[in-house]
Amino acid sequence: MQKILIAAAVAAAGGFATGAGEIYRDASQPVERRVEDLLGRMTLDEKIGQLYQSIAEPDWRPMEGQFDAVRKGEIGSFINLYREKGVDRVDWRGTVSRRCHDTLQKIAVEQSRLGIPLIFGHDVIHGCYTIFPSPLTLACAFEPDLFETAQHFAAREARWAGYDWTFAPMCDTARDPRWGRVMETCGEDPYLNALCVAAQVRGFQGADASAADRIPACMKHFVGYSDSMGGRDYNITECSEWTLRNLHLIPFRAAAAAGVETVMSSFNTVDGRPAVTSRHTLTDILRGEWGFSGFVVSDWNAVHEAIEWGYAKDGAEAARMALRAGNDMEMFSRHYPDNLKGEIAAGRMEIGVLDEAVRRILRVKFRTGLFERPYAIELPGDEALKAFDACAHEAAKNCAAKSIVLVKNNGVLPLKAKKIALIGPLGDDRREMIGAWDARSEACRTTLFDELKAAFADGEVIMAKGCAVNTVASVQTKEDGGKAESAATSTAGIDKESVDRALALAEVVVLALGEDRNWTGENHSRSRLTLTGAQQDLFDYVADSGKPIVAIVCSGRPLALPSVWERADAVFYAGQPGCEGAAALAALISGKLSPEGRLSMSVPRDVGHLPVFYNSYRTGRPGSGRYDDAFEQDAKYPFGYGLTYTTFAFSPTRIDGRTAKCEVTNTGAREGVAVAQLYVGAAACPDGVRPRRELRGLRKLSLRPGQTAQVAFELDDAVLAYTDRSGALKTACGRYEAVIAPDSASGSGASFVRE
Ligand code: GLC
Repeated sequence: MQKILIAAAVAAAGGFATGAGEIYRDASQPVERRVEDLLGRMTLDEKIGQLYQSIAEPDWRPMEGQFDAVRKGEIGSFINLYREKGVDRVDWRGTVSRRCHDTLQKIAVEQSRLGIPLIFGHDVIHGCYTIFPSPLTLACAFEPDLFETAQHFAAREARWAGYDWTFAPMCDTARDPRWGRVMETCGEDPYLNALCVAAQVRGFQGADASAADRIPACMKHFVGYSDSMGGRDYNITECSEWTLRNLHLIPFRAAAAAGVETVMSSFNTVDGRPAVTSRHTLTDILRGEWGFSGFVVSDWNAVHEAIEWGYAKDGAEAARMALRAGNDMEMFSRHYPDNLKGEIAAGRMEIGVLDEAVRRILRVKFRTGLFERPYAIELPGDEALKAFDACAHEAAKNCAAKSIVLVKNNGVLPLKAKKIALIGPLGDDRREMIGAWDARSEACRTTLFDELKAAFADGEVIMAKGCAVNTVASVQTKEDGGKAESAATSTAGIDKESVDRALALAEVVVLALGEDRNWTGENHSRSRLTLTGAQQDLFDYVADSGKPIVAIVCSGRPLALPSVWERADAVFYAGQPGCEGAAALAALISGKLSPEGRLSMSVPRDVGHLPVFYNSYRTGRPGSGRYDDAFEQDAKYPFGYGLTYTTFAFSPTRIDGRTAKCEVTNTGAREGVAVAQLYVGAAACPDGVRPRRELRGLRKLSLRPGQTAQVAFELDDAVLAYTDRSGALKTACGRYEAVIAPDSASGSGASFVRE
């Protein structure tokens, strides 16, 4: 009796009593020993339970209805989309998610036979409550360490909200801006992408993912999802092993090397198989070549979708295929819990395969401290929370200011005008700059209108919204409970009267335009790369006035806006800059800060030119394959491009031994940040064709007017390397070109031979 009382007391305190001989409850024991001890005690039902991730959502599976399953050990994880019915965005301080987490966790820890804690995952992609720039936007800072800072803030807020695990970083490489999920990627270049996702893993997990201010991460979507044909989400993907190895896998390998605890398999096909059933990627590469020791969770319903793909004939086969391939946990669909026991009984599934999946999940639960600290961590006191909040918002503003890209400026910026018309739907908006995948975000605390009034306090800012950010919910046909309805495109125009009033008083116009954030993110592909709603009409109407225009474009993807490029006097591509985007934009427009962002994804001239990315392979006919009906063929603004409020001169690159060198001079009248980018191109590669140029080094330089700095990059084999089809890093002998340039389309290179 005494032992039970002690156990109950310790469990109530959120820890585990160490029963006699129960090694798994002893935190002083090595993880592997705890795993084996616990595995040896588990029934088949309890093992299968660990492989299943459910959802606690009032509409799908109400939390209360799952208490019994948790008590029986039939659920190992929740994707906590849980919210109280009708209560949508709850302040994580409001603790709805904390309460739901601890209610379910208490049952698992104190009422189930073995007390194995649940692991609760959530999509904390670019902030939990304080929203930082979207990954595609923050990658434009060309400063990967900012991701580490941002995701550390996110980890703390996620823990306070009651989450144990985040489904990030997204490691896909952007290929097509029609795909709504490019906003979650770190852009089109695998080298920059790899630096950014490794920094995210460090930010989330730190040196110890069990720490109260850290959280286990999940690299996704493994692998090749961003090659969805036509930029249409969930579509077929066809890419060669060579492209898989030398493009899509590069960021994942970096995240794995950074110690990411978990992986999410993807919706797409890999070499004709649903990725969730691809043993080649999930086992041979991920575990065989990279030595990954955590676990793999399927993406939402992806095990079931192996049937929809016409690949598995039924749920039992889908479960066998996915588990054997190396997909350990099933999210949302129920083919593991519904079939695996029967498959084992029928001798169609080996218990050893199942045990290995359970082992991996238990290992992560032990490694990330869940057994010792299963409940939501305590919220800090109000003073500490206030101090944290101020730091988080300051960091978010710094990230935004470094990520916003100036692509055109005919001298109108920084703004000196006294009478400014702020026109456009993002002028007084508090959510569009937050972007998609915004977790538990609050609205922006200030608008661009607020921030411009503060920045130009000695002048006057007149606001006219002009039109809505969009005029339809979506032109897709919406299935709403089986009732198909298509939202008619409304013809809502622009409010000319208010726009005229603002124009009449203004010396200059700041046009705050954007792409409806609800048309970005998952399942939001677009066939056009335009502004949404009537915003183009608004832009053209304002441009007809002849007033100087500073155009701000906030979007989840690069938009092709020929008339904006042509008629605006300055253009910012601001991406989805997060909760402090308005403050960052006002600081840049007023000149308090100088822009330093560089494009992480090429801006195409037209949707008809896609795909347009700088690192396309050479072809057998360089310069051929042109569009007869298009004068310009390349990107309007290439990867790596961005302006500042000064100018820089890059000397021709020269090779000194195996070192590339170049001088960068600030030739303007104001201090600024140059981003020196090292691109390398191999003349010949006997294992496969390679891009004309590949980014292989970057360095940010803050230079005063007239100051010159020398930039040098070592051209060692790792910089020149490629990955062969067996996964080995190799360096071809032969002639290379190296160029240190301000962007991917310029610079004067030099060649050298690698013997
Ligand atoms: C979604 C997304 C994935 C996300 C998961 C859980 O379908 O593809 O990125 O982490 O489901 O929300």
